[in-house]
Amino acid sequence: MTAVAKREEGATEPAFPAIWLRDNCRCAQCVDTGNEQKLFQITDLPPQVAVVATERDETSLRVTFAPDGHRGVFPLGWLAAQGSVTQDDGRSEASKQLWLARDLEGRLPVADWAAYSGDDAEKLRVLRFVARLGFALLRGTPPKEGTVLEVARSFGFVRETNYGELFDVRVELAPNNLAFTGLAIGPHTDNPYRDPVPTLQLLHCLTSAVAGGDSGLVDGFRAAATLRDERPEAFAVLSRTCVPFAWSDPAASLRALRPLIETDGLGRVRGVRFNNRSMQALASSSEELTAFYDAYRSFAELLIEPGRQVGFRLEPGDCVIFDNTRLLHSRSAFSDTTGGSRHLQGCYADIDGLLSSIAVLERSLGQAARRDDGTGA
Ligand code: OGA
Ligand code: ZN
Ligand code: ZN
Repeated sequence: MTAVAKREEGATEPAFPAIWLRDNCRCAQCVDTGNEQKLFQITDLPPQVAVVATERDETSLRVTFAPDGHRGVFPLGWLAAQGSVTQDDGRSEASKQLWLARDLEGRLPVADWAAYSGDDAEKLRVLRFVARLGFALLRGTPPKEGTVLEVARSFGFVRETNYGELFDVRVELAPNNLAFTGLAIGPHTDNPYRDPVPTLQLLHCLTSAVAGGDSGLVDGFRAAATLRDERPEAFAVLSRTCVPFAWSDPAASLRALRPLIETDGLGRVRGVRFNNRSMQALASSSEELTAFYDAYRSFAELLIEPGRQVGFRLEPGDCVIFDNTRLLHSRSAFSDTTGGSRHLQGCYADIDGLLSSIAVLERSLGQAARRDDGTGA
């Protein structure tokens, strides 16, 4: 006997191989009974593991292994749950709800800060919006400096960078970034010159422009999926070509070399980087460069296609939280003068902390919270 069927008689699924069972043995010799951490290395196991006997009672499956006679134990509930485990870490397109602007028309993922802060079920609903749709908009936060950090800390941890814990977005006299002018900024992801890139971004409005300065978001995963459908060869070029991004000032010199479309081991989209301002000259063969530019233009055209961008306006007290590995953000031009009115504060945070907060809230709110996936929109 070399394997144990995942289900009872008639199972058509592949069985658990003996080595899988041995590596995942739940006995007290194999895992710490307190923290459930594994106590051995793969190299501690004999290379030719086999199952020589199994015995099932009400609650567990007991397995005797060769060649060393190890007696393993597997709670049946634990074993049954393994059959439904998928290769899905909550980050790739597989666990997202991809959208076009019309899908969110009249149903933006909006919530009120007071309700979010005072009610765990509401907080869970909002954080799930970020996980599934890529963003959520909190209204009614205190329109004062530093609030953006409080919002980030309500679900995770601020990612401090060379810009500090937070950054101010307003018109500056000598801007080192177009963000600090009144010019329009097309759809982009932030800080592609960092690796790891900040996975979440928050923008909090303290003062809005008299006119203009409206915000836009585009689902980069959806656009990448469309590129894959329509021009698979262009998708392949963008997912295999590493593009240099850089940013520097007297105190920092940042550089990352990553593809515009990142895929996981199964070819699923799990990240998008797009920022013409910090993209550097690509080095490759003439043929590869030509193919890259053709694909890059196709992707860029898709991203600005009408119907992709969700538009809204940040008013004082509004804070948008978005997935910087998936959504592209933009703003329209505005005409404040230097020292003029529009003032946002932004910060970065990371999605592992947000996904952890979701899981902890689900645990404390119980089964009902788990069933209602709450994405609504
Ligand atoms: C930024 C940015 C958008 C805005 O600072 O990264 O894109 O609305 N700002 O000013
Ligand atoms: Zn064991
Ligand atoms: Zn930006």
